Amino acid sequence: MKHLLNIESLDAMEIARILERTVEMKHIRGPHPGAPLDGECWVIMFSKSSTRTRLSFEVGIRELGGQPIFLAANDIQLGRGEPIRDTARVMGRMAQGAVIRTYAQGDVEEFAVLSGIRTINALTDHEHPCQILSDLFTIREKRGTLDNLTVTFIGDGDCNVARSWIWAAARCGFALRIASPARFQPPAGLLRAAGGDVTVTTDVLAASDGANVLYTDVWISMGKEDEAAFRIAQFGGYQINRAAVDAAGGTPLVMHCLPAYRGKEITDEIFEANAQTIFDQAENRLHTQKAILTLLGK
Ligand code: CP
Ligand code: NVA
Repeated sequence: MKHLLNIESLDAMEIARILERTVEMKHIRGPHPGAPLDGECWVIMFSKSSTRTRLSFEVGIRELGGQPIFLAANDIQLGRGEPIRDTARVMGRMAQGAVIRTYAQGDVEEFAVLSGIRTINALTDHEHPCQILSDLFTIREKRGTLDNLTVTFIGDGDCNVARSWIWAAARCGFALRIASPARFQPPAGLLRAAGGDVTVTTDVLAASDGANVLYTDVWISMGKEDEAAFRIAQFGGYQINRAAVDAAGGTPLVMHCLPAYRGKEITDEIFEANAQTIFDQAENRLHTQKAILTLLGK
């Protein structure tokens, strides 16, 4: 595994290896013995906002002995129209790795090929692989196992986070239910290509029935702000609330990738009642990404 571009291209063994390495990383914490990224500069190039992903990569690269260099896309020539293929060929000659957050999945893939350096997808419109790998770690940490697992995703079933969940379910063999309005369900072609035990419905309570994990994400992903009014109208009710938690049997793991918009995809009451899990989930981004950073082949 030279790059981490999506969950789609991982197999079950690679996912298991990342989760095992994450256990070690969380156990060690802080500066890593042996400094595995010693002498390396890693570019963190983001075209979209970020709190968790940026901070966890900056801290993680430092803890592993490397130097992170944050570049906001709008501060570099990329933001003035320099093509990604030229940006990649420059960075490949100066840095040893790249962490990229952008819109088109194809840009991250092109960067990986043309730069020749280890490349990590830190979120595209297509997938958010670091998030879902970290979430699998959190679920296993809290439940002890990923066996006999049913995850219910409530919200935008066609967003990057939902798509990564679909591939994770297919690769790891757990049940995934997606509750989304008809206009925001994952495309049939994606579901066919991924396979696995994935069901899609408009019924939040039916999807929540007996679930081990209730998971949600924002209704308005970055880049979709011009659809805000339409989305708010469509997504009303696609929320983790008391009724969904009760339908799940009262004690599901409630997870949110953050940032959260209370009163929209989750109620304040349910968010705060599950804050320990949700912020453990956020912290685990650091440990999982340190695992990924040390597993990519040079
Ligand atoms: N969950 C997540 O990726 O958060 P940020 O957008 O803050 O990085
Ligand atoms: N689907 C969200 C995830 C944020 C971490 C977005 O793309 O904005």
